[in-house]
Amino acid sequence: MDICQKIQQVDRLPSPPALAAELLELTASPDVKISQIAALIERDPALTTKLLKQCNSAAYGLRQKVASVDRATVMLGIKQIKCLALGFLILTDSEMAKAEGFNYPLYWKRASVTAVAGKKLIERIDKPKSGDAFVSGLLQDIGVLLLQHVAPNEYAAVLKAHQSSQKRLHDLETLMLGIDHMEAGKCLLEHWALPPTICDSVAMHHQPQRFEGDPEAQQLVNALAIASEIANLFCDPDKGGTLDRVLRVCSGFFQLSDDDVHDLLEQVGSDAQETAWLFDTPAAESLDYEKIRAQAERELKTLAQTT
Ligand SMILES: [Fe+2]
Repeated sequence: MDICQKIQQVDRLPSPPALAAELLELTASPDVKISQIAALIERDPALTTKLLKQCNSAAYGLRQKVASVDRATVMLGIKQIKCLALGFLILTDSEMAKAEGFNYPLYWKRASVTAVAGKKLIERIDKPKSGDAFVSGLLQDIGVLLLQHVAPNEYAAVLKAHQSSQKRLHDLETLMLGIDHMEAGKCLLEHWALPPTICDSVAMHHQPQRFEGDPEAQQLVNALAIASEIANLFCDPDKGGTLDRVLRVCSGFFQLSDDDVHDLLEQVGSDAQETAWLFDTPAAESLDYEKIRAQAERELKTLAQTT
């Protein structure tokens, strides 16, 4: 059986962490009470701490600090708290998050930047969707974890080929495994019954132009595709070309001026730092946007002089 078949046979997919499964079951009931959700989440002290820190972070911008899951749920709503809890549980407690030799700090750094950037972009046009955007960003590359979990040796070969090639990661995955991490991630999140908007934006994050849904869903897909480019800017070595692309797509999709984009990226850097700390990722220095911008401008200047 090939990797693609393994993933598409849902009974072979990993189960969600036990608490995530309970949370999904509980929130499937329309009569669920805030106190029941809070009691479930509070059984996991590490999750409770992460959740409260994230709700009190600058990214969420609550006017009052929240000290309990009950209160956070009242302020943000059941859906946002559910999605946030699922995001943290899936990324840190699932059986996929424990492979030896996988670069989790880089993965979590990317996830943190993508989540914060997606949230900040969508807030400009559709604030109620910002919780979906954050979780979609957090889980955007969950397919990478799934592929390396299902086929560790084959996926190690994909990552090796990616280091020495100009090809995009998802193209190499399709070429070498027959499935890319967008499709793999979508299969998994649908199997775990996450909301369709989150599944769609994960499925389309490197190809938003192929999405065929309603305009509201398209906005989330576009924002998350741009958030992925922003994560490239913060996490990949090439800064100049990526900053140039980010400026163009932010202007095209969200009519942002260059100054607006630089302000947004500065906030993304500092807010993503707070989120990255929740994963114990020592990312403080490399998320300093001023340094990244200076490097990008040096690269663009050198490029202009040589062409
Ligand atoms: Fe991706």
